[in-house]
Amino acid sequence: MTEETTTLPGQAPPPVRDWPALDLDGTEFDPVLAELMREGPLTRIRLPFGEGWAWLATRHDDVKLITNDPRFSRAEVTGRQVTRMAPHFKPRPGSLAFADQPDHNRLRKAVAGAFTVSAMKRLRPRAQEMLDDLVDGVVREGPPAELIERVLEPFPIALVSEVMGVPDADRERVHTWTRQIISTSGGAEAADRAKNSLYGWITETIRSRADSTGEDVYSLLGAAVARGDISGTEAIGLAGPLQIGGEAVTHNCGQMLCLLLTRPELRQWWHERPEARDALLDELLRFIPHRSSVGLARIALEDVDLHGHRIRAGDPVYVSYLAANRDPDVFPEPDRIDPGRAPNPHLALGNGPHYCTGAVLARLQTELLLGTLLDRLPGLRLAVPADQVEWRRRTMIRGPRTLPCTW
Ligand code: HEM
Repeated sequence: MTEETTTLPGQAPPPVRDWPALDLDGTEFDPVLAELMREGPLTRIRLPFGEGWAWLATRHDDVKLITNDPRFSRAEVTGRQVTRMAPHFKPRPGSLAFADQPDHNRLRKAVAGAFTVSAMKRLRPRAQEMLDDLVDGVVREGPPAELIERVLEPFPIALVSEVMGVPDADRERVHTWTRQIISTSGGAEAADRAKNSLYGWITETIRSRADSTGEDVYSLLGAAVARGDISGTEAIGLAGPLQIGGEAVTHNCGQMLCLLLTRPELRQWWHERPEARDALLDELLRFIPHRSSVGLARIALEDVDLHGHRIRAGDPVYVSYLAANRDPDVFPEPDRIDPGRAPNPHLALGNGPHYCTGAVLARLQTELLLGTLLDRLPGLRLAVPADQVEWRRRTMIRGPRTLPCTW
């Protein structure tokens, strides 16, 4: 990762740009990322934590290539302090995000059955029932209501717990730990304490389901350990991120709802063209800046030449799915929300082997949340001016902190 090793003859290496963690409001696109995209397809960045610099790829084609190419490894990241967004970095064995093939397939297979399209179809009536209970409560009490606290947060967490097989009695504390882990505002120590508690609970739960034939994730993991397909440690590392994953839906849907409540043309599309709601959801997924900065890096296992630069073996590389979703060569007028956009090959849920495990679940929850809220409360609107909506601070996943609404 030295200066002179990064360049092909005749081409200067791009400068290393500092990318601070910004607290952005609304669905504003990160101005630093926009600048990096203008600078070139392949730039170099330094993030607030970790060491050194990393490559950043922002074009749709390159992002697809890098995320699908075994020459870029996730497992290699675990032994390094790569420049990064998160203050703490302690990957666990078994974590899907840090596994390369063939381990990645072996691990993913252990839980895949719980997240398939058919499993989600079976889940749908129960999910609708759980959501209706929450919305009934809101309707009963009447306006105004804070929809993050009342619906957007409890629903995904409860539904993930349903898929995972968390007993009712344990749900409240599991939820509290996941919130402390995902938030950076409580500091590293609070997050560590919550992680230890959650992982302790997961360890016990998997152990207690060794003989279970259930279809929930903890039963699948208990059985996979008993069969010897995965180790106990791997099962725990697999379960943690899945248990926490529900939170992503809260914030992504929060951004979607905010857009739908503040842009009348989108709302009109939603109500007047029910057959085209899927296309609108895809367009919102493409447009929404789901996360701050970038996610997890990959390490080049061999030299790779790209856009006149040589990515050397050992160099860390980030891709930006957010940037790829605004690539003007793939999405004309990328900064405009076009509900009829077709084709719409967005990468909001990732690409390649690390494509979001919870993608079908996330889609189900998004459809149900928006459908139920907007159809049951047709007069739904913000109870405060749009510029007074509070947004999450110092966080990996962006979204409104609160959504006070009336109807
Ligand atoms: C991976 C987005 C919801 C679990 C990913 C990735 C993206 C993503 C972009 C790929 C990152 C990469 O390349 O490493 C989202 C969005 C969501 C969402 C936008 C909501 C709208 C969920 C849910 C769950 C989940 C509900 C689980 C319950 C995971 C896991 C991975 C992942 C475990 C790692 C997969 C792997 O590395 O093999 N997600 N996600 N996500 N997601 Fe999601």
